[in-house]
Amino acid sequence: MPDSIDGQLTKYLTDAHSIEEQALQQLRTAPKIAKDEQLGRVYSEHYAETQEHERRVRERLEARQADPSKLKDLVARAGGAAMILFARANPDTPGKLTAHAYSYEHMELATYDLLALVADRAGDEETADMARSIRDEESAMAQRLAASFDRSVEASLREIDPDDLDEQLVKYLADAHAIEGQGIQLMEQAPAIAGESGLAEVFSEHLKETRGHQTVVEARLEAHGARPSRIKAAALRLGGLEIAGFFAAQPDTPPKLAGFGFAFEHIEIGSHEQLKRVAARVGDEDTVTAVEAIIASEHAMAGALRAQFEPAIDASLAERI
Ligand SMILES: [Fe+2]
Ligand SMILES: [Fe+2]
Ligand SMILES: [Fe+2]
Repeated sequence: MPDSIDGQLTKYLTDAHSIEEQALQQLRTAPKIAKDEQLGRVYSEHYAETQEHERRVRERLEARQADPSKLKDLVARAGGAAMILFARANPDTPGKLTAHAYSYEHMELATYDLLALVADRAGDEETADMARSIRDEESAMAQRLAASFDRSVEASLREIDPDDLDEQLVKYLADAHAIEGQGIQLMEQAPAIAGESGLAEVFSEHLKETRGHQTVVEARLEAHGARPSRIKAAALRLGGLEIAGFFAAQPDTPPKLAGFGFAFEHIEIGSHEQLKRVAARVGDEDTVTAVEAIIASEHAMAGALRAQFEPAIDASLAERI
């Protein structure tokens, strides 16, 4: 574990690099899964941007790290970083793909926010400027995806018989229930890693809210006469999104935990945005209203986590110097 600020900066850069490499892999297949021309174009265009990101980050790494063999090593090791656990999720419908990509862009956004803050403190202006300029492109991509939620749900439902829509809604509700379950795990385990800090408090506060979200979703499942076995099946389906895996991978630092939490909130937002649209198609206004309230709470949590990036960076650098 590097203990100097320069070592930290190099580590954040290698993380950013491996995240871009994962993004390239995913964006290569995304246009096919999108099943929508316009959405496919959104992915293809970001593929070109992502190639640039990878190149720019690699150049900064090369500029900072004189020994290329050591650099190769660093990059390879970062491949196992907890932040890229997301990449294992295997979205199979246009809607799930959009939700996944939406959260992935937010994970990148968080990565570059953190990188910029570390670069500021290391006095590396060039890296800080690069991080903020890439961050803005990730943010713009996330916005384009958010603007595509309607299209992606349409594409997902196109082949579904209208009579089966209620059944679909139950499936989306069961998935939402499972995601909130993952959220509860995250909120329960995060404070121990965050230490005594504002960050720990933010997680603890959201634990209560997350339990509330799950209860609300459960009530909507009951309203649709769904059996508990449906909930269980959805929890199993969610294998790609292993929060427990995140913690098992490595006891990560508070700044990365904040970044991961921020991305996680956007997984929730992305999937709830899908759920909301499916509920609207079925004419289930109660679910629409309930889900809108949950989405607002996830956005608030994401904002609260982002506000912790800077204090978390300062605390973790103070510890190491
Ligand atoms: Fe990128
Ligand atoms: Fe991106
Ligand atoms: Fe949440």
